[in-house]
Amino acid sequence: ADTGYDLWLRYQPLDRRQADAVQHRAAYLVAEGNSPTLAAATEELRRGMSAMLAPHSFAVAGSAMRNGAVVIGTPQSSPIVAALGLPLAKLGAEGYLIRSATTAAGARITVIAANQDVGVLYGVFAFLKRVQLGQSLDNLDIADAPRLKVRVLNHWDNLDRYVERGYAGQSIWDWQKLPDHKDPRYTDYARANASIGINGTVLTNVNANADVLRPEWLAKVKALAGVFRPWGIKVYLTARFSAPIELGGLKTADPLDPKVAAWWKAKVEEIYRVIPDFGGFLVKANSEGQPGPNDYKRTHADGANMLADALAPHGGVVMWRAFVYAAENPDDRHKQAYTEFQPLDGKFRDNVLVQVKNGAIDFQPREPFHPLFGAMPRTPLMMEFQITKEYLGFATHLAYLGTMWEEALQADTFRPTRGWTVARVLETPVEPGAATGMAGVANIGSDFNWSGSQFDQANWYAFGRFAWNPEARAEPIARDWAAMTWGSDPAIVDPIVAMMMGSREAVVNYMTPLGLGHLMATGHHHGPGPWIADLARPEWNPVYYHKADAVGIGFDRTATGTNAVAQYAPEVAAQFGDVKRVPEQFLLWFHHVPWDYRTRSGRSLWDELVTHYDRGVGTVAAMQASWEGLKGKVDDARWSEVRDFLAIQRQEAGWWRDASIAYFQSVSKRSLPTGHAAPP
Ligand code: GCU
Repeated sequence: ADTGYDLWLRYQPLDRRQADAVQHRAAYLVAEGNSPTLAAATEELRRGMSAMLAPHSFAVAGSAMRNGAVVIGTPQSSPIVAALGLPLAKLGAEGYLIRSATTAAGARITVIAANQDVGVLYGVFAFLKRVQLGQSLDNLDIADAPRLKVRVLNHWDNLDRYVERGYAGQSIWDWQKLPDHKDPRYTDYARANASIGINGTVLTNVNANADVLRPEWLAKVKALAGVFRPWGIKVYLTARFSAPIELGGLKTADPLDPKVAAWWKAKVEEIYRVIPDFGGFLVKANSEGQPGPNDYKRTHADGANMLADALAPHGGVVMWRAFVYAAENPDDRHKQAYTEFQPLDGKFRDNVLVQVKNGAIDFQPREPFHPLFGAMPRTPLMMEFQITKEYLGFATHLAYLGTMWEEALQADTFRPTRGWTVARVLETPVEPGAATGMAGVANIGSDFNWSGSQFDQANWYAFGRFAWNPEARAEPIARDWAAMTWGSDPAIVDPIVAMMMGSREAVVNYMTPLGLGHLMATGHHHGPGPWIADLARPEWNPVYYHKADAVGIGFDRTATGTNAVAQYAPEVAAQFGDVKRVPEQFLLWFHHVPWDYRTRSGRSLWDELVTHYDRGVGTVAAMQASWEGLKGKVDDARWSEVRDFLAIQRQEAGWWRDASIAYFQSVSKRSLPTGHAAPP
């Protein structure tokens, strides 16, 4: 049965007419040069094209230039490419060019060229995608390059293979068998990532275990790095800030203590002796119990810079997370990261990226953009998205996150002026050559289907596309993914894309409509818990977030409340802070509003809330109906899995709606609006 293991790299045979047309343009491969990356590109092209063109063959065939030659390489690796004098300069290290050309002797060929081998690899995947999507190979003139430098997955994988917030089985890193056995899956992982331009992976959990920095573990990391290297992927590790104590026997991890700095310097040198192209560290410090520089009354900049200095001579970077909030801090959790980090703007070394979650709380189904974006113009900020669906129903709820990420990336920070979207902030280096980046908390595990469900593969795919180009749009990405994953027939693609495009809004509606957030049950975050009020840390209680009372509901973050709005640019603050102007999707995020407040639909807030819950459940029912219509059009094994998961989602959406309405009704004392489908 088809498990979905092949992801979007299925390379299904084209129909005969298409295969003939493709074969006319792309009949055989000319690959000069022999680096591991070019070998990987060659093998992928051969593998993909011969599968899709069958019964035609697609072989690597010397350097004879006839019609239908596909030539790949760089000017250094290939005299043929060099002789073509292509305009490669603007493409940088990772960009590529795909062009149709005619040789002096009149042969019609296609060239996939780049400045470096990894660009050729990306070009090969782009070419394969065109063929998968049935797009024409005539008169090609395509140039593309990534807009961000660091495009990384963050695996929250523990060394015992437990994946924190993972819903797809165990960690795929089989540490016990490494370094001697390299599971072939590592190569498929690298292929999949390279196909979407991901160029780095942080192997270990942000809640870090220092053991991975021990020599015997570094040998295992080295083995993985060796598998990934040809595919343009660097490895990074999380660095536990207290490692000098735990591993080094020091009394302190104070970043300003010379012995501590010396320990890290030696550790980093050791790592680079083992892995010469090691990417660097990701650090979660002074957050949710993790050690950090605050333990020694030092700033986040002190901590990050100490590690950055150790890494700089080797070309490594520090990704220092801004996800900080403290139980002892009585201030609105929404404000704490900004309060702590914004004053440090300009104080970080050049090889530090501050990694900021898309919203100020924690990966909710919907949050306004984080106020740090645009507010630290002298500090490279990188985006952290969560691909794994911790707060969106785990793997069994279909929720395409492309729309969520587009919404966050297209938000206008107004810093310094109108038009500075989050995407533009991310893409614009703080000075020429400075680092830029995006991280995605991986949803990958040992399940056959990698991501816990067929549709969660789309979120991995979309993350790569947005990391390559933060200006990308969710809809065309969904379209590409659906066609490659399920089949390019519009009768398949159209309904699937429609399901995907509405799916995240459905989750928002049945979990946290109108700007509510953080109402999930404690700890695991699955299912509703808006009534929970008794946790020791106040900012973990759902009641802290919705603040429902007899008068109304919502968190006043305006000047009459915590004034979190003041952390945004004045234009944004004016909008979010005005109950009349705030987008209704953020209404209760920023305002405490009476139950009888008139919403834009004309309904009272209470009725509108109930309407959203109903709508969320209704959308899931509609997705089930669409999926029924695809029975027989896609393979049974994957179809059945999706059908079952949609049924689980339908049931749990109803649970969310009914439990939430029942609880809020106990507070609002309002009756249910007519038309609301009463729970069974
Ligand atoms: C969330 C999540 C934790 C994670 C944390 C983080 O709070 O529940 O599991 O460690 O985010 O991003 O550091």
